[in-house]
Formats: sequence, structure tokens, C-alpha cells
Amino acid sequence: MELKRRFSNAISRRDFARSVALGGPAAFLATPALAWRRPDPLPATPASPDERFWDSVRKQFVMPADLAMMNAANLCPSSSPVLETMYSNTRDIDRDASFNNRVKMAEGKENTRKLLAEFLRVTPEEIVITRNTSESNNLVSSGVDLKSGDEVVLFSDNHPSNYIAWKEKAKRFGFTIQVVDQVNPHPGGDYYVEAFTRRLNARTKLLAFTHLTSTVGDLLPAEELCRIARERGILTLIDGAQSFGLLEVDLGRIQPDFYSGSAHKWPCGPKETGVLYIHKSAQSKIWPSIYSAYPGAIGISKTFEAFGQRDEPAIIAFGEALKFQTKIGRKAIEKRARELTQALIEGLKKIDGVKLWTHPDPRRSAAVVSFQPGGLNIKKLSDALYERDRIAGAPRLGEDRPGLRFSPHFYNSHKEVERVLAAIKRYMAAGA
Ligand SMILES: Cc1ncc(COP(=O)(O)O)c(C=O)c1O
Repeated sequence: MELKRRFSNAISRRDFARSVALGGPAAFLATPALAWRRPDPLPATPASPDERFWDSVRKQFVMPADLAMMNAANLCPSSSPVLETMYSNTRDIDRDASFNNRVKMAEGKENTRKLLAEFLRVTPEEIVITRNTSESNNLVSSGVDLKSGDEVVLFSDNHPSNYIAWKEKAKRFGFTIQVVDQVNPHPGGDYYVEAFTRRLNARTKLLAFTHLTSTVGDLLPAEELCRIARERGILTLIDGAQSFGLLEVDLGRIQPDFYSGSAHKWPCGPKETGVLYIHKSAQSKIWPSIYSAYPGAIGISKTFEAFGQRDEPAIIAFGEALKFQTKIGRKAIEKRARELTQALIEGLKKIDGVKLWTHPDPRRSAAVVSFQPGGLNIKKLSDALYERDRIAGAPRLGEDRPGLRFSPHFYNSHKEVERVLAAIKRYMAAGA
């Protein structure tokens, strides 16, 4: 014991001496693995943002300049301000984990709830901070009281957390599932309003669909689907994993009962933080799935969000990510991602042998673009793009609309889109 104490004292004396030699405690902490250059402050967004402005936005991220990250639908990087918030709060807790020091962390969590409510244009009393979209979707499918004789209507292109989850829970609770199939190419919003309407009947209790699909980026008519359900007293769950942080989502207008999202996708927030919105009128219709300590302070979070000990620094950094996007402007972000997408789609259309799965009409798609690169081996092509060309997309293997998926966001540039198109053209001509 004595030896251990003397050893640790020796280390701290040695560290202190080194710290002083390096220019004081701050310099000592800046170990290469933890430090990153703080970017210049983000300039105000001009009325018509140009490539120079978007370049300064890109510099807020620690991604290397030569890497074209076009996989926002899967996972987005966090900006430097978000990293810094996460790091400084984590360090604060690890420096002093007392209840007294952590009071401010609970306040930070409530601040993120407020920011989420502003972002989604609802009230903080309707916000639950979760781990991710998967958890949010499952809190709904486990929490709504459904039984034999009840029906749930699903979209066939829902993510497993909003499809398989319902099918498995139907086995357990006895309700039945009706499915509306996706159609490719996207047949238009009216088609889906009619197709879903045909599936609704007196037994239907809930309609669960995806705002923007992760497979081929089909945009569903969320507001109309919520309206037809609401008129019949049917609850709605919108999976917003691909719309939250990309589109200027206004839940006050769309009026779903439930909306789910992840911070680590389009909002560029920390990993493993997410949101579940629960409309005031639906709060009495859902049971909590988890009962534990540390609930939220207001509204539904008081009963629904007692999830035990949380990663509060990540939750606080989630708020920072929302502030970052709000500062740039959500309209500007959506416009930028859509503009890059249109350039990508237009270029892909001109490459011989490419078959687009994504509809080019911006009323039917947003920033998720999938296509089949002729007969090329998809895995090989995806690996070659990453290894030789420093382009990261997502391979879509299997039978269902196979190919490559690119999902550009506001940190990408037109130059990167051109690089992607040139590379695809080259591989289509010469093989992967
Ligand atoms: C539409 C959709 N829903 C849910 C999810 C699951 O998201 P997470 O892994 O963040 O829970 C995804 C992930 O890609 C998705 O695309």
C-alpha cells in the first residue's frame, strides 16, 4: 500500500515537472491524441451562401480535407464545437463526480430538451431524450397498449426498428400487421396517401412510416398521412432518422403523435443520443418501458425518461449540435444538401449503365441517393472508392435495389460531388 502511494506520488511529481517544462498544466494536457486545432469562428451565413462560406463550415469539422464523407444517412461527424463541449463536460465530471458538481449537468440536459423543442417546433413537455431512433421506435411499439383485434399499418420500407420490431411485438401482444408496399420509382405522394388510406379500418390503432427512407431516399407525404390517421382517431409514428437535422422539420405543422430521431445522423451530434417526440394528446396512450432513477424535469419526461444514469456530457453536446445547425440556418442546410444531391443525380443520369433507384424530383426525395452501377461488383467498387479515391459512401448489398448509396450533407462540396461522378464514370468504363 505504502509502495503504491509512493509510486503514485512519484508519478505526479514527475508529471508536474514535465508539465512545467512544457509551459504549464494546460500544455501538459494537450496530448496529441486529445487535442485538435480549434477552428476559426463560424462566419455569419450570407444571404446567398457560396462555396467559400461552405468551406468555412467544413473547416469546423476534424475530417481530413481529402476525405469525401458522403454517408450522412448512416453516421455524421460531429463538429469541433460539439467535440469540445463533450470533452470539457466529460472531463469536468471525471475531475469531480460529486452530486454537487453534477447539478449543472442535469440543468444542461433540460437545456437540450428546450433546444430540441425549438428545433422541432413543439414544446419541451413533449420531448424525451433517448439513445437513438431504434430505441425511440421501440419505446412506442412496446408502450402503446395494443391487443388482439387491433391493427397496425406499416410501410414495407421501414427500418427494422420500425418493422421487425412491430412484427415481433405483434406475436407477443396479439395484434395484427397490415403492410403498404414501397413502389420504385417513387409513384408520388398522392399514391401513398391513397395506398395507406385503403389499409385503414375500424380496427387500425396506429400507422408507422418513415419520413425519408434510408434505402433509396423516398420522401413520404408526412403531413397528409398524419392527417388521414388523425381524422380516424389513429395514432402515427414517424421515423425521422433521415429527416431530423436534414429537412426543416416542423412537427407543429405535421402533427404526428410520435416522431423519432438520432443525434448522430444529420444533426451531427454525439453518438448514442436521440429523441422521441410524444404529442400531448398521445401521452396518456403510452406506457413507459423503463422505470428507474433520474427522470427528466418536465412534461412527459418526468414519467417516461427515468432511464437511470445518463451520459450527460453527450446530451449537452447534442444541444450544442442543434445550436450549431441553427446558427448556420436550417433552411440553408436543407437547401445546400439538396443542391449537392441534385448535382449528383444529374451527373449520375449521364453515366452509361447507371440505374437510379432514387427519384430525381425533390418533392419525392431529399439527400439520400441510391443507384445500381451496371454489373459492377458493389463491394469491390465501394472498397475501391474508399481506398483509392477517398470517397466514403455505403454499399447496398443483397437483392433489394442493390447498389451504392451516397448521402451528401452541408459539410460536402460541389468539388467532392464532381470527384464522385468522375470516379464512378471511370469505374463504369474500366471496371472496379
Ligand atoms: C430510417 C431509419 N430508422 C432508424 C434507424 C436506426 O437509427 P439508429 O441506429 O441511430 O438507432 C436508421 C439507421 O440508419 C434509419 O435509417
